[in-house]
Amino acid sequence: MKSNRLTVNLAGLKLANPTMLASGILGYSAETLEGIVAGGAGAVITKSVGLKPRAGYANPTVVQVDCGLINAMGLPNPGIDEFVKEIRQAKKVLNVPLVVSVYGFSEEEYAAVSKKAADTGADALELNVSCPHVKETGSEIGQKPETLSKVIKKVKAAVDKPVFVKLSPNVTSIADIAEAAAKAGADALTAINTVKAMAIDPETSMPILGNKLGGLSGSAIKPIAVRCVYDIYERVKVPIIGCGGIANWRDAVEFFLAGASAVQIGTAIATKGSSVFRAVSRGIDAYLKRKGFKNVGEIVGLSHRC
Ligand SMILES: Cc1cc2nc3c(=O)[nH]c(=O)nc-3n(C[C@H](O)[C@H](O)[C@H](O)COP(=O)(O)O)c2cc1C
Repeated sequence: MKSNRLTVNLAGLKLANPTMLASGILGYSAETLEGIVAGGAGAVITKSVGLKPRAGYANPTVVQVDCGLINAMGLPNPGIDEFVKEIRQAKKVLNVPLVVSVYGFSEEEYAAVSKKAADTGADALELNVSCPHVKETGSEIGQKPETLSKVIKKVKAAVDKPVFVKLSPNVTSIADIAEAAAKAGADALTAINTVKAMAIDPETSMPILGNKLGGLSGSAIKPIAVRCVYDIYERVKVPIIGCGGIANWRDAVEFFLAGASAVQIGTAIATKGSSVFRAVSRGIDAYLKRKGFKNVGEIVGLSHRC
């Protein structure tokens, strides 16, 4: 939907509305992303892609639990050299910013994948330094401020597109990590990736997921994500993209009030379909109109007044 109240400039990216597809919920194809844009998303983020193809974990990779999903996909992906074809195709058919999510096992890998994605037309990169279930990447990088800084600096030196850094809630102080990321040059911070979790089947007495451990998403993690955004906003000045359990406009508004400039939606697509983006935008717009605000930017961080 078009409304001046909803427009956002996110680290240089112009969004018609502040809702974005969260990384990984859907596959890689340009066609799938097109469906999400038709549902009203203001920007889309791809599933995380690495340097080489990766098969991911054995099934089951996703389990439904109360208030959400636990997943341990294991970062399955075709590798950046194959994925650039989808980036090219997506750029032809999408009329919203395309953000490519990148993971790596070293700073060099993050930079090499980011450069290939940016050279092929990605409008921004999102560094996945927060996946909770693959060794030697993801949160194993995002939990260590020094390693994280090196990754961000290397990527920033390799590309001239905005670099978002997606943070893990599985740390003692997310504000400390956010500060390190901001100092290293992150253009925006996404909070949060999934919360480390597991489920056990009483009948078999075994963990359900093939990988045993996974990451929890959906409405169960929303209060954790709101707290993370609030903590980060108190510490750093870079824009924050809120993510975690958003399913309706009230959830989104809560994130803006905590300090987010835009929001990502993932798990809710499974129950609400791609039109969740339009429904959330309409609700935000009606809220802003009712409260007398001219633009969503006016409510970012409002809950910090006291
Ligand atoms: C099945 C599934 C796959 C995911 N894959 C990725 C991924 O590849 N990269 C990433 O950064 N986050 C990934 N995530 C995390 C989401 O992008 C998001 O941070 C998390 O699910 C919280 O948002 P939500 O509650 O709206 O889903 C995945 C989540 C799910 C449920």
